[in-house]
Amino acid sequence: MASASSIAASIASKTKTKKKHFVAQKVKLFRASDPLLSVLMWGVNHSINELSHVQIPIMLMPDDFKAYSKIKVDNHLFNKENMPSHFKFKEYCPLVFRNLRERFGIDDQDFQNSLTRSAPLNSEAQGRSGARFHTSYDKRYVIKTISSEDVAEMHNILKKYHQFIVECHGNTLLPQFLGMYRLTVDGDETYMIVTRNVFSHRLSVYKKYDLKGSTVAREASDKEKAKELPTYKDNDFINDGQKIYIDDENKKMFLEKLRKDVEFLAQLKLMDYSLLVGIHDVERAEQEEVESEDNEGEEEGESDGGGIGTPPDSPSNTLDSTKPLSPGEFDPTIDVYAIKSNDSAPRKEVYFMAVIDILQHYDAKKKAAHAAKTVKHGAGAEISTVNPEQYSKRFYDFITTILSYGQGEFRGQITAQREVTLAISREGFEQDAERKFMLSLV
Ligand SMILES: *[C@@H]1O[C@H](CO)[C@@H](O)[C@H](O)[C@H]1NC(C)=O
Ligand SMILES: *[C@@H]1O[C@H](CO)[C@@H](O)[C@H](O)[C@H]1NC(C)=O
Repeated sequence: MASASSIAASIASKTKTKKKHFVAQKVKLFRASDPLLSVLMWGVNHSINELSHVQIPIMLMPDDFKAYSKIKVDNHLFNKENMPSHFKFKEYCPLVFRNLRERFGIDDQDFQNSLTRSAPLNSEAQGRSGARFHTSYDKRYVIKTISSEDVAEMHNILKKYHQFIVECHGNTLLPQFLGMYRLTVDGDETYMIVTRNVFSHRLSVYKKYDLKGSTVAREASDKEKAKELPTYKDNDFINDGQKIYIDDENKKMFLEKLRKDVEFLAQLKLMDYSLLVGIHDVERAEQEEVESEDNEGEEEGESDGGGIGTPPDSPSNTLDSTKPLSPGEFDPTIDVYAIKSNDSAPRKEVYFMAVIDILQHYDAKKKAAHAAKTVKHGAGAEISTVNPEQYSKRFYDFITTILSYGQGEFRGQITAQREVTLAISREGFEQDAERKFMLSLV
């Protein structure tokens, strides 16, 4: 199966940033600065090709949610500097993820192209620190390195997640899980999961927040703030007087989706997820575009295939489906999370908002907290952490609040909201945790 020739076929385009490093290569190869990425590209190419020969079943079977495909590759001496000479590629639940891609409106051929035409780019634009992130070269997909616990948790939730996606017709703010893989190189196993990019593949984000609805230790560190695109948090959002200007119709649709999504997460006992918010400033981006065109000549040749940072110049010229759009415009079938600012916004902006990092399970968290507390305080120390139900409620309320009120009213409205929250909590929420949260905001 994995003969040398299967590695060697041509792919349509060539990494733009690579041009200084090698000249006119006749046979195009999966060539990335990191052997793991070469293996990922190889594996996705292989998997999508294989799947294209597998008939689409009328419905998924329970076994499909446990299935995997595995391939081990040795040799191909001729291609040694591009690919590790021994590697393994395992894809989890291939039919389920194919079905999910379809439900999210993603064509398999496009998916394959995005991940294999050119090497994925390093990215620190999304999610928590610690995990490694890449985006596909065309920025449509995010590739996250995850732990084996995350893989186990994905297997736990996959059936219900799939069911949920069927029911909401793919119309959700939850991560769009599109493929999950294990890559083995030199005996080291790496797990990766691919999701749709929350941010745009072409509109740059100049400010981003990771919001959880908690104000305890929720601000960006100085180290974080020194980054080019820091991840700001709840307290920063409040202190900046940040506003999300969207019209009522969009707000209603967004909150309706969010409500269903977090109810689902609470049912699964998942918590600690965040709302990732990215803000695109239309005029600012136009300005930067002009500047970067002026500097074009100087920048060339510096970057290697890793492509660290995100220069606002990804012309996506290999994607013929991308029609020219005027500034601030987007294709809602690709940038599915984008919402335009409303008429009273002081600047023309586009917001990208979706739920990320959903794989934290309450029991795992409790165990970890318990272990930590036991070490610190001895066995029997009590654990005070909100449960998934409380978490979802607090999260939803916080997001509702920030979408509903202007800066001046912010604090006052949160106070008023306490009454609402307490009224709701009579229906079964634990008042204490709720009240603690609300008080900490006032
Ligand atoms: C991609 O997969 C196809 C079909 O298996 C194969 O013929 C081709 O050589 C692969 N491409 C690369 C660059 O390995
Ligand atoms: C725009 O959004 C702001 C902030 O949510 C809101 O106060 C304002 O009423 C909205 N204006 C329109 C025209 O929808």
